[in-house]
Amino acid sequence: MPKIQTINRLKGFRDILPEDWYYWQFAISTMEELTLSAGFERMEIPTLEKADLYMRSVGEETDIVGKEMYIFDASKMGGGKDKKKDKSESLVALRPEFTAGMVRAFIENGMQTWPKPITLYTLGRCYRHENPQSGRYRELSQFNVETFGEADPAIDANVIALVWDIFRKLKIPDIEIHINSIGCNECRPKIKKLLTDHFKKKQTKLCEDCKKRLKKNPLRILDCKNEKCQPIIAGTPVAVDYICEDCKKHFMSVLEYLDEAGVPYNLSPNLVRGLDYYNRTVFEVTTEESKRQNSLAGGGRYDYLIESMGGESTPAFGFGIGIDRVVDYLQNNSVKIPKSNSKVNIFMIQLGDEAKKVAIKRTRELRELGLSTGMAIGKDTIKAQLKAADKVNALFSIMIGQREAVTNTAIIRDMRDGVQETVELEDLNKRIYTMVEERIKEEEEYGKRSKLKNLK
Ligand code: HAM
Repeated sequence: MPKIQTINRLKGFRDILPEDWYYWQFAISTMEELTLSAGFERMEIPTLEKADLYMRSVGEETDIVGKEMYIFDASKMGGGKDKKKDKSESLVALRPEFTAGMVRAFIENGMQTWPKPITLYTLGRCYRHENPQSGRYRELSQFNVETFGEADPAIDANVIALVWDIFRKLKIPDIEIHINSIGCNECRPKIKKLLTDHFKKKQTKLCEDCKKRLKKNPLRILDCKNEKCQPIIAGTPVAVDYICEDCKKHFMSVLEYLDEAGVPYNLSPNLVRGLDYYNRTVFEVTTEESKRQNSLAGGGRYDYLIESMGGESTPAFGFGIGIDRVVDYLQNNSVKIPKSNSKVNIFMIQLGDEAKKVAIKRTRELRELGLSTGMAIGKDTIKAQLKAADKVNALFSIMIGQREAVTNTAIIRDMRDGVQETVELEDLNKRIYTMVEERIKEEEEYGKRSKLKNLK
């Protein structure tokens, strides 16, 4: 028989297997828990938007939009009536990031009338057709936080402090926060002119991309990763020295608030970020391991974006964490995460056809009572099934063998210490429900006590 060709996943796309998912779950739940406790609310936006949205916000000249966007003409698809002739309407793109979509949602849902500041978060997949390499994927996941409606520098510091807390809770203690100010619409033209004059003299030595950047946005040359440009970048005038008095005051306040909050940072005069919408404070998070290429998170202030997209002038600040990179870090550094957050209360173990029938019926009844259940139907021996129960950290297992099926009984086994008791089937649901309830209460009490102990 001819060998059938298998179909593999696309380059830069990944499968997340159950053993990896524990890390993902730990990373996401830690980020969500802290963000929710800081008063942010979750929302969702579409994965697919009009390509124009990203072109106008992130910027057509940026790598993310200019080179890496998954963009296609939706008018040529399917049999729908939605076949617009207008090219800009039909060109759609998979989101390369969240901020543009969040801003569109802000304007479209009339959020300017909501009490401010508006604090929101979202998470999910984004798509960038980058050159895949370690820590750089074409399908990537971000945890994204935005604050709308407040220009106070305390917002910048407070949100950066949230990032710091998230990384500490994620057990990634060796992060570095790099921070800079790139000025505002008042002072940026002056800075751009200064940089243009500086780089023009060395134009021939710049890479091809930077030659284009020199015309469009010389600030972005500072962000170039090309080896060729590094010596030229090294001798550049420092933009932060040329920002206006208001921007200086804002930046100094952010730093003071961070000092006060005990959040360490590095001043990084060449940090400009690869998206066009930022002004004033910008920041990135790296670790020793991730270096500059692979920042774990990045963000900043974007006070002009909402207005430039047709909304009311509204200051804003936000950040995105690369969840893939966080998970890679946890796995590469064998960071111990809390053992499986499995919520399986009861694992049903059965032996023989009759027992299997009873077990299936009982598991459904227990689920209806609100208990979570597990079962390893294909496994024949008690030993293999007990191993499966252990693997998912079940609190109790219920064992129904041939004898129990005939005598209408079941054995409850406490998976913590192996203590077993036999119960009549008619009493099983009530008994196991009480046992699970008591165990969960006990574990919660223990959790609270250890938290208090850490406070002392
Ligand atoms: P960004 O720096 O482009 O910012 O992305 C945020 C994070 O996403 C990066 O720090 C990195 O960890 C992760 N990331 C980016 N590209 C990749 C990739 N190809 N593979 C794996 N991870 C990646 C933004 O997207 C802004 N929208 C953040 C923001 C929110 N600014 C204000 N609000």
